[in-house]
Amino acid sequence: MTEMHNQESILSDGAVFFIFGATGDLARRKLFPAIYSLYREGKLGERFAVVGLARRPRTNDEFRVDVRTSIDEFCRYDVKDNGEWERFAEHFEYKPLDINNVDGFRELNVQTEEIERKFDVPGNRLFYMALAPELFGSVSHNLRDGGMLDTEGWTRLVIEKPFGYDLESAERLNEQLSSVFKEEQIYRIDHYLGKEMVQNIEVIRFANAFFEPLWNNKHIANIQISLSETVGVEERGGYYDHAGALRDMAQNHMLQMLTMIAMEPPSRLHPEDIRDEKVKVLRSLRQYHTAEEVHEHVIRGQYAAGAMKGKALPGYREEEKVNPASVTETYFAARVFVDNFRWAGVPFYIRTGKRLPVKTTEVVVEFKSMPSNVYLGRKHKLEPNLLVIRVNPMEGIYVRINGKKPGAEGGIQPLAMDFCQSCMIGINTPEAYERLIFDAARGDSTYFTRWDEVAAAWSFVDKIAEAWRESNDDLHQYPAGSWGPQAANELLEQDGYRWWPVNGQEEDTVVWK
Ligand code: BG6
Repeated sequence: MTEMHNQESILSDGAVFFIFGATGDLARRKLFPAIYSLYREGKLGERFAVVGLARRPRTNDEFRVDVRTSIDEFCRYDVKDNGEWERFAEHFEYKPLDINNVDGFRELNVQTEEIERKFDVPGNRLFYMALAPELFGSVSHNLRDGGMLDTEGWTRLVIEKPFGYDLESAERLNEQLSSVFKEEQIYRIDHYLGKEMVQNIEVIRFANAFFEPLWNNKHIANIQISLSETVGVEERGGYYDHAGALRDMAQNHMLQMLTMIAMEPPSRLHPEDIRDEKVKVLRSLRQYHTAEEVHEHVIRGQYAAGAMKGKALPGYREEEKVNPASVTETYFAARVFVDNFRWAGVPFYIRTGKRLPVKTTEVVVEFKSMPSNVYLGRKHKLEPNLLVIRVNPMEGIYVRINGKKPGAEGGIQPLAMDFCQSCMIGINTPEAYERLIFDAARGDSTYFTRWDEVAAAWSFVDKIAEAWRESNDDLHQYPAGSWGPQAANELLEQDGYRWWPVNGQEEDTVVWK
């Protein structure tokens, strides 16, 4: 049975959260802080428990100290007082577990029943895999064989990316999981779908008479999606050198954002209807079959030594755990087409890279220009209208229109109507992980990726990866701290466009707030 869109604002029936990989980075940076924020906002109530699982021995007290340290460092709320902390920490337990040994799962099951009695939870169990994907399969099997899934309540599995390395490995992984869990029990995280402004795309599009009638190839010239990062690979060289920007960012976050921008209005606000529309977009992506097509539409780059804010930065090949002769891309840009009636002929330009000058995620919708050969267009250079959705770190939208320059000369200038949501006092936007953990716990899978979406995204990405394997001649080097290879600018110039500057308007734009 498909689970319905669940709008409950608190977790009324309660649940036990099992965090596999509880001593890892994701748990520390994202999961514990998110659980605390949900608790603080009263969304979890008191009928819940968190069981941390990992190989390392730890006592409950030590584990609770780890949790507290992570909240102090990464949570958007400060812990109120000791009384509140004690109440919250009571819900956390730690069990050392060898995930390859089913006996440990049997013991865990007995202990869980006790925890469920203590917190009055009717057998609802959420398993969060903050682990390397190679381990998902054996954990799932042992959950089943150890009796952890034989409960009166619901059981759900939340898994992190990467979901496979290519279509074939993703299929293998999916088979392993689906021999234990049904598709509707599997929640595949793409944390971009948990971001406030990515969820807002749906509302901006479908709740505004300004936009929806224009949202097609008759009125839109092109769409640009930029995810730029200032960081390099940090300590993740081992993983990243096998993944690269195409697998790490494009296969998931970028294509997911593209689906939100391009999908048709769903027939109902139901997770499956929304995901049906998203997968249609992925299936409509024009696939590049030959190396020539890939070279024509796709640019890849790797950062070389450079500088940012006066600080010298090493090149990618000098980073820790990176092969000194690596040809892994740290920059990816592409011209993508969604070959359906709405979007025929409209280029979507997408780009992402590490060690670029600013950290930002933005979507720019560039509308077609007014005719240049009649009336005002004859006399003035009219700039196109833009709708910019700022996702990260600033949240908001701005709309750029043309207006008259005050005064007698009758000049025309661009005006930006800028709504900065994150600048408003009192808005403390929930972290993506807060929403996603809460959604999974209340059975709302809207902002998780369904298997057919993952598969369609891999089949698009695999063709590019295949073409790249043939030769590395098109791997451009770009200095750390720059905007990436010049070839990515040419991609747009060939079509008569340019990347719009991110994180702010151009100098000649007047801003209305
Ligand atoms: C992750 C990637 O999924 O997203 C990282 O693995 C990347 O390489 C990160 O840095 C970016 O996320 P955000 O939310 O900081 O934009």
